[in-house]
Amino acid sequence: MKQEIKKVYIETMGCQMNKSDTERILGILSNFNYEETNKPENADLLMVNTCSIRQLSEDKAFSQLGVWGKWKQDKPDLKIGICGCVAQQKGRKIFSRAPYVDFVLGTHQIYSLPDIIKKINSGEKVCACEETNLPTINEEGFPINRVKSTNAWINITEGCNNFCTYCIVPYTRGRERSRLPETIIKEVKDALNAGFKEITLLGQNVDSYGKDFPTKQTDKPELKNYRLAELLKDLNKLEGKFRIRFVTSYPTDITDELIKTVVELDKVCEYFHIPMQSGSSEVLKAMNRRYNRETYAKIVEKVRKMVPDVTITSDFIAGFPGETEEQFKETLTAIDEFELDYCNVAAYSPREKTVAAKWTDKFIPEDVKNERFQRLNKKIQENCLKSNLKYVGREMEVLVESFYEHKGEKINTGKTRNFKTVHIPCNKDLTGEFVNVKITGAKTWYLKGEKI
Ligand code: SAH
Ligand code: SF4
Ligand code: F3S
Repeated sequence: MKQEIKKVYIETMGCQMNKSDTERILGILSNFNYEETNKPENADLLMVNTCSIRQLSEDKAFSQLGVWGKWKQDKPDLKIGICGCVAQQKGRKIFSRAPYVDFVLGTHQIYSLPDIIKKINSGEKVCACEETNLPTINEEGFPINRVKSTNAWINITEGCNNFCTYCIVPYTRGRERSRLPETIIKEVKDALNAGFKEITLLGQNVDSYGKDFPTKQTDKPELKNYRLAELLKDLNKLEGKFRIRFVTSYPTDITDELIKTVVELDKVCEYFHIPMQSGSSEVLKAMNRRYNRETYAKIVEKVRKMVPDVTITSDFIAGFPGETEEQFKETLTAIDEFELDYCNVAAYSPREKTVAAKWTDKFIPEDVKNERFQRLNKKIQENCLKSNLKYVGREMEVLVESFYEHKGEKINTGKTRNFKTVHIPCNKDLTGEFVNVKITGAKTWYLKGEKI
């Protein structure tokens, strides 16, 4: 008898790590007769893939679960699961807060999903959150249901060892583990065969890729000195026209060898995401970042000098505990001084278990945090426009990512090698193509270009 096809809907919150996990989860479920739906009301299985980087993201997860929980009254067979960073952090406690949840799946246990599905379908409640320090290996060779796009995101490291005092990630993702090059290269080849044109290598700290190989029980002595630069060289050898990017870089882990590799390899793009977090050396120390303003300056200067047209983006936190107005102003001046092309900003949010969350006497009032957040955003907008204006009149290669109509005009939009967004008015859908354009104008968030 043919097995009934069930429908699964996954709401994904948070960073690329979660988006990439969702693709793997959908791949696993597809082997067990689950097909993805984009309509939650049609689903037999609802999952929320959660983020706990800020309180707001965590609250969003529980309010989503609350909405779905009510649906169970009319649909008693409906199953609800929570995975991702909140699941890993809270474990079983989730069952008391949200009793309609059938399973809690931690970030280390994605490949135990087949077993979980069997159990919940026979009425059990399951929590799979034990931490393992193994990479979440794909033992069964399950497919990965990648979101249709031009860009495939491929994890190269998981977890983080840095323990910045504000950050929950080391608690939700565990210690840093590097995935084996052969696994990564296979995933890249599969993505290229499926038509993806850009590969983004993903990790909390990509430039420490491979540092764990010498200490790991591996039967591969050749991996002793295998780092991000070596991986990039191996990937650059793969046939076909495609681009390679990598995020995120920890400032002091960027080696000269890596920068040189970026310059030399034709497929690797001129783009670095190097979060600074604060422009003040004292705040950086309190954050347990392993650099100060001067060392960050030297790294950015070196990258700019060696890599022509490089785009450097960053992340900053506004209102870290104890941050004075003077120290905050150092962040504003850092964005100017280092000519950061774009930055993500967030107001500090205390996270359970982290060191800084205990410094309650130093917490900055919400209104001050928000006001600093606004000032940072304004500065970033100014700099973004300044950075974009540099490219007016230049010829650049754009990989087109999407095609749409806006106010009666048909537009292709895509990215340059150095991660600038370009809008190209053109009646033909060029999605997935590399197009040479002349940049004719610059706005805050994008460039305008004409196809040559
Ligand atoms: N591994 C990356 C960042 C991962 S988290 C790095 O080291 O830079 C993404 C961003 O979220 C961080 O760069 C930081 O700016 C922000 N963030 C992390 N914890 C936060 C918190 N408790 N409050 C506000 N922002 C936070
Ligand atoms: Fe969090 Fe710091 Fe690790 Fe980045 S490096 S994930 S900010 S602990
Ligand atoms: Fe990512 Fe959020 Fe977890 S940023 S690693 S999903 S806490």
